[in-house]
Amino acid sequence: MTQPSIPFVDLQAQYRRIKPAVDARIQTVLDHGRFILGPEVAELEAALAKASGAAHVVGVSSGTDALRIPLMAENVGAGDAVFLPGFTYTATAEVPVTLGATPVFVDVDRHSYNLDAAALDRAVEQVKRDGKLRPRAVIAVDLFGLPADYPALSAVCQRHGLLLIEDAAQSFGSRQGNTFVGALAPVAATSFFPAKPLGCYGDGGAIFCDSAERAALYRSIRFHGMGANPYDMVRIGINGRLDTIQAAVLLAKLEVFDEETEKRRAVAARYDAALRGRVTLPPTAPGTALAYYCILVEDRDRVQAALQREGIPTAIYYPKPMHFQEAYAQWSAGPGSLPVSERLCGQILALPFHPYLDEATQGRIVAALMRAIAKAA
Ligand SMILES: Cc1ncc(COP(=O)(O)O)c(C=O)c1O
Repeated sequence: MTQPSIPFVDLQAQYRRIKPAVDARIQTVLDHGRFILGPEVAELEAALAKASGAAHVVGVSSGTDALRIPLMAENVGAGDAVFLPGFTYTATAEVPVTLGATPVFVDVDRHSYNLDAAALDRAVEQVKRDGKLRPRAVIAVDLFGLPADYPALSAVCQRHGLLLIEDAAQSFGSRQGNTFVGALAPVAATSFFPAKPLGCYGDGGAIFCDSAERAALYRSIRFHGMGANPYDMVRIGINGRLDTIQAAVLLAKLEVFDEETEKRRAVAARYDAALRGRVTLPPTAPGTALAYYCILVEDRDRVQAALQREGIPTAIYYPKPMHFQEAYAQWSAGPGSLPVSERLCGQILALPFHPYLDEATQGRIVAALMRAIAKAA
């Protein structure tokens, strides 16, 4: 008998659960018709500020624009260096490049997979010694949901006068100590891409910040650089607004978000218990709610192929570090320059992971993984 297929992220199970709330929220938007910056956007911003503890939240069109707008607000551009981890998704790196700035790839810590504060310090010192670029900003990524080491990164940024931006695309809902993602750095950016912990039904994102002046700038830039009214242009901006319908979907999803976060923690704990000692478990910390459950395995590609034959979907986040990507070749210091990022990209494997993953299915995944590892050995 063929086994039922296993989704990697089960958005349909979530929709079945919250369908009445999502449908009613969308219907309300269809009825009032304010599709651009309608009341749901401000309602969502207030709800996200309350949930995260951030002073200000600005809803935007994607996680990528949530990174771009804060850099635009600081006039980051040609001649500026923006430091970011070599082990991340391309969105983190493309944003400074699209503004004419230079990305400087820094290695990650081998335990957390997040930006290594000591390596960051060395990279900033090096750029200063070279004297060709102005160090301006750091984008720290909370990879797979684990917040980066903000106390250490903040100290480096303060010493060098750099803006610290948290790329929280994967970590909304996590905490570091008692502080939630969104309030860990002066500026944070999250993504509402459908598969993210809080995802909408299209593209969306949000910027979190502690300064009213910055929030006002971000609101202006997301609306083409508007001043007192939409036809008063006081700076160059973009069309970076969050759609009202997406805000409505997110408001419905927020109602179950805390419960889903706990469910993700429980699913991760079950994987941890089954896999401890057999593979390298994902790094975590108290307060973390993982977005992706990524293990390290030797002979990863063969393990992945064997799992695929058994109907178990997996993903590789990410097959190449940024400095190995063709698009970033001119900013690469070559193989061996970011050894931790390079090693992780060769071994990382993401297993199916979402709040609705039941124990029986998880057992099937674990058993198939054990067989795949035994065969690859
Ligand atoms: C680490 C990271 N940064 C930024 C982004 C960009 O988010 P979006 O796809 O919403 O533009 C993503 C998501 O894809 C991401 O994983």
